Amino acid sequence: MNSYINQVDFFKGNNPEDIAKQYGTPVYVYNEEIIREHMAAVGKVITKYPYTANYSVKANTNIEILKLALDEGINCDAMSPGEITLLLKAGFPAERIFFVSNNVSAEEMDFAVKAGVTVSLDSLDQLDRFGQVNPGGRCAVRINPGVGAGHSEKVITAGKNTKFAIAEADIDEIFAIAKKYDLKIVGINQHIGSGFLDPQPYLDAVANLLRIADRFENLEFIDFGGGYGIPYHKLDDEAPFPMEDFKKKLEPILDEFVERYGKAPLFKSEPGRYCVAEGSLILSRVQAIKQNAGVKYVGTDVGMNTLIRPAMYDSYHDVELVRDGKVVDRVDMEEVNVSGPICETGDLIAKHRMLPVAKTGDLVAVLDTGAYGYSMASPYNSRPRPAEVMICRDGSLKQIRRRETIEDLLAYF
Ligand SMILES: Cc1ncc(COP(=O)(O)O)c(C=O)c1O
Repeated sequence: MNSYINQVDFFKGNNPEDIAKQYGTPVYVYNEEIIREHMAAVGKVITKYPYTANYSVKANTNIEILKLALDEGINCDAMSPGEITLLLKAGFPAERIFFVSNNVSAEEMDFAVKAGVTVSLDSLDQLDRFGQVNPGGRCAVRINPGVGAGHSEKVITAGKNTKFAIAEADIDEIFAIAKKYDLKIVGINQHIGSGFLDPQPYLDAVANLLRIADRFENLEFIDFGGGYGIPYHKLDDEAPFPMEDFKKKLEPILDEFVERYGKAPLFKSEPGRYCVAEGSLILSRVQAIKQNAGVKYVGTDVGMNTLIRPAMYDSYHDVELVRDGKVVDRVDMEEVNVSGPICETGDLIAKHRMLPVAKTGDLVAVLDTGAYGYSMASPYNSRPRPAEVMICRDGSLKQIRRRETIEDLLAYF
């Protein structure tokens, strides 16, 4: 593909140069239509049985993005009281929020219980603490289905090498703790990892979780987790997550369980990345070009403070060059490193990348940054975080978060 931006008409007639000038660079730009389409798609993963997708808000907690999820009729999962608060503020009723907790304090559990949000506990110790906080209460437990998958070792959250969830071998202990505190285990959940394009490990984990579910009586819900990947190498025509094929393979696994269990509980999933990654890019300005030891560096203002994924996971993001408001054709390319303004050698957004020849003053568009982009951004090197702008369905532009200022940074002291 020559240009994703052009192929999907990402800017809907807006000039990216004008956006960069109006909001400054770097700037996160979202396309409402693309995000809505992805949210609607995850809402239809299961159609035969009661089902809801929980958008996993850690991927992107901008309140305007949360409102899109609300409007598309999907629910959400939260990882902290902060995320629960943002969801309540966006208009989600407590019963549409699921707190998938990990190593939290009694106060955080109490916060969720008082807000009316169902909590999932992910260790026996935390289940015991929950029993002390909320005897006679309802909760879910996170189970390790024994299978993990993901784009990096660091995001595989099930299987042998992870801090998450309760092992199948400890299930009797779950029942003992539940009995001790008169807790009702109303749901079980899992999450095997993040960013896989092959659905097979997820299908295997679903089958495992459903086998484990047989041991729990009267479950109200079973949550299979998220993790559906997106094609980060789209300029090289990488295939997307095979959603239709995945759905076809998932259904018979559910059929078998429902028959055995005697009823269909509410099935859930927890996709984050799939909902928001592709509907977003970062616009950044080329500030300097240089050669170091035979390597050409395109120095920009998007660094690991704005987008940490490449430095943290060695993640790949496609990059397009924009000059005078237009995408530069991918011809006459050269190999470059795209670097940022941060005082770290690892501050590289793209390594050994073929790009059209860049000039100082060009814009660089870093694609697929809507998930784990702004939500992982930091003010490292005391650089204020960027603005976020939405291209609305009607083509209008809406600033959905203002650029942080140096005064904002000073306000903590
Ligand atoms: C418990 C849980 N659920 C859902 C997700 C969402 O994963 P993804 O964004 O890959 O769909 C995560 C991501 O880390 C997670 O930890």
